[in-house]
Amino acid sequence: MDQSYYLIQGKRRLSGELMVQGSKNTVLPVLASTLLVKGKTTLFHCPRIQDVFMMTAVMEQLGCKISWKNHDLTVDTSFLKGGNLPLEYTGNLRASVLFMGALLGREGYVTMGKPGGCKIGKRPIDFHLEGFSKLGACVKEREGIYECEAKALSGAEILLPFPSVGATENLLLAAVSAQGSTVLSGCAREPEVCDLAEHLLSMGAQIEGIGTDRMTIRGGRKLEPADYQVPSDRIAAATYLLGAMVTKGEIRLLLRGNNKRMESILKVLEQMGALIDLKEHSIELKMSGKILPIYLATGPHPKPPTDIQSMVLAAALTASGPSFIEENVFESRYQVVQELKKMGGNVVISGRKASVSPVFTLYGSKVNAPDLRGGASLVVAGLGAKGNTIIGSLDDLKRGYEDIGKDFRQLGASITEIIR
Ligand code: EPZ
Repeated sequence: MDQSYYLIQGKRRLSGELMVQGSKNTVLPVLASTLLVKGKTTLFHCPRIQDVFMMTAVMEQLGCKISWKNHDLTVDTSFLKGGNLPLEYTGNLRASVLFMGALLGREGYVTMGKPGGCKIGKRPIDFHLEGFSKLGACVKEREGIYECEAKALSGAEILLPFPSVGATENLLLAAVSAQGSTVLSGCAREPEVCDLAEHLLSMGAQIEGIGTDRMTIRGGRKLEPADYQVPSDRIAAATYLLGAMVTKGEIRLLLRGNNKRMESILKVLEQMGALIDLKEHSIELKMSGKILPIYLATGPHPKPPTDIQSMVLAAALTASGPSFIEENVFESRYQVVQELKKMGGNVVISGRKASVSPVFTLYGSKVNAPDLRGGASLVVAGLGAKGNTIIGSLDDLKRGYEDIGKDFRQLGASITEIIR
């Protein structure tokens, strides 16, 4: 357990420029896709975050060779041995579920412990398993272990009850190995899903309808390893932009990959009063007046992403009027509210709805990060608060951000990590 904590001196106006790290939710499924083929793949600009380290540790347990050169990660899957995912990792690394589709196709079987519950919701994997069954796999659960076996996968028509990002990604990773065509309807359209699909195309897969809610995958084609340029993390970018907004700052973010992925997020920030100039590889944000109140209803892409909800809520606490938030993706993604209340925030939760009554300012306090984006939300709140904020329980934050403290310091914040 990481005993360090962040000490933030609030009300420092942010300014300057920052290159945004690679996208966590792109690189995790792309890592899983490397198991589809024998050989070496290099992921350039890969974020050095805990979730990636855990994913590569699982891959090493499966016989893969891993090497880093700064931010470039090379995986060699030539000596992959079998599809038994190590229990000691999969319990607390939900993203390891993404290995199932690729291993089912490559090895013909995969076993995995039930992915650990999560602080933001139950997060079952029924859509994944039902999809594997439709592709011809035999799926069993024995004492908390899922066993999936398929001599050969065959194409199928699959309709997802909800546009689940992970289920869409897992079924893409399985369908490319199936004989014949698979039609995936009701699928997720998130930029990270498109990133994976485009990477699969570069490996030789044939996929139509990328970016829509219906993809057709012509399986059984010979796939080859393909190196990958990881695009910037749109949720990390949102974090820094909101930090600039609560300090009435002016920053420029440099981004890799296409900026279209930022559109649904930038719309929310502009509604909150930010002046934004979106260029091909950068975003400039200037915030002068107070934050404007917001009505935010999160949802599957192209609706505003659930991953910015906690941070938007933090910024709304000192807006010029009341805000209303609806969390339509996860059933319990308001854990951070109890911590924000310690800083003076005034929020009433009713089910999936949050009503925010504005206060003049937040006050620094001693708080703990309840989950990954809740932790980022506390950093945003601390940057705008009067006085000092101490944020403990940083483990979850480090799953998704390389060094959020260093990044915000580069933008002029006073935030230091104190090792107890
Ligand atoms: C991905 O999680 C992201 N993680 C999440 O980011 C993100 O919040 C989420 O998509 C939604 O955009 C990664 O990409 C590694 P879902 P995932 O399947 O795939 C229910 C972050 O902060 N559901 O789209 O797990 C589920 O319970 C993380 O970076 C089922 O019921 O999300 C949830 O309510 C948090 N059965 C909803 O669907 C299933 O089989 C959306 O989940 C699958 C999902």
